[in-house]
Amino acid sequence: MTILVTGGAGFIGSHTCVELLNSNHEIIVLDNYSNSNIESLNRVKRLTGKDFKVYEVDLLDKEKVEEVFKENSIEAVIHFAGLKAVGESVEKPIYYYQNNIMGTLILTELMQKYCVHNLVFSSSATVYGDPKEVPISEDSPLYATNPYGRTKLMIEEILRDLYVSNNNWSIASLRYFNPIGAHESGLIGEDPKGIPNNLMPYITHVATGKLTELNVFGNDYSTPDGTGVRDYIHVVDLAKGHIKSLGKVLSTKGIEAYNLGTGQGYSVLELVDAFEKASGQKIPYKIAPRRSGDIAECYADPAKAERELGWTTVKSLEEMCIDSWRWQKKNPDGYLTKAAYMSGH
Ligand code: WQD
Repeated sequence: MTILVTGGAGFIGSHTCVELLNSNHEIIVLDNYSNSNIESLNRVKRLTGKDFKVYEVDLLDKEKVEEVFKENSIEAVIHFAGLKAVGESVEKPIYYYQNNIMGTLILTELMQKYCVHNLVFSSSATVYGDPKEVPISEDSPLYATNPYGRTKLMIEEILRDLYVSNNNWSIASLRYFNPIGAHESGLIGEDPKGIPNNLMPYITHVATGKLTELNVFGNDYSTPDGTGVRDYIHVVDLAKGHIKSLGKVLSTKGIEAYNLGTGQGYSVLELVDAFEKASGQKIPYKIAPRRSGDIAECYADPAKAERELGWTTVKSLEEMCIDSWRWQKKNPDGYLTKAAYMSGH
């Protein structure tokens, strides 16, 4: 039996594929490469020494997606495929609803048709909007403040209705906090297209000299040093959380949401300081105006995942910085950096 990984060529998807293969699962990957590169999957194969089928398919192409179900005996789906840039979602809401919602409706309709009822869904802490209190638990109020977050919240509700309609479903919605870091090999990592929106890839591009200085979006928040506080989680810890969630959906019925975070918040300036210490690279920055839509503080109460999944994070902020830097140093142009990879160092 096989695990279908949609969006498996992406940052979290590729790291989860490594953990799935290392846990002796058979996998197949479906990806349209709209925000990823097939090179990441070549490196997953190199890292694990294992092969797997890859389908270049867009979830909106129902016929092509159905062929994947016809050709394979799928036991469960880990569903990463989706657009995830908050700012872009505000500019292009229909693009986001079509891709994220319609893509999920097509996927789950075919899962139902082929009697595949085990699903791990890539949700996000963005479903908590601007939390009234931190740390955030799974029963904190849910409300999204942007179209991207609303797609995640709507999909969670759709999946809940799906379970109510048919109790054979077994579903885990994983609410990620801020994934950073990279596999210790430095062969796979975060490779956003264009100028990075997120903090860590922006920092690593300043460290390589690709960008000149970091803009710190506001230092007048009600936080210890005035800059935004987030729950940064190592992408390998996050990937391992998917393996634990997969085990749960394969062994039980029902639907649950889990926060995947460390439970520890760090400010922008604390992350910059940690990165400078870990990398030995100075990160010049200037204080810039707040970014619209940003919140002051967001970090998880991860107790439910620890209790019910037997999962907890183990990697420190220093390791996240060291691993992010190793990936970017070896791959200054991300997966387009062929030379470093081909020369094998
Ligand atoms: C982190 C902190 C910024 C860039 C986003 C999505 C969320 C999830 C994770 C998908 C904030 C500050 C950032 C910069 C800065 N993605 N910052 N200068 O906004 O917490 O979450 O990614 O699920 O949905 O919203 O992450 O890395 O963009 O920002 O000062 O150039 O860094 O203000 O305080 P965010 P981020």
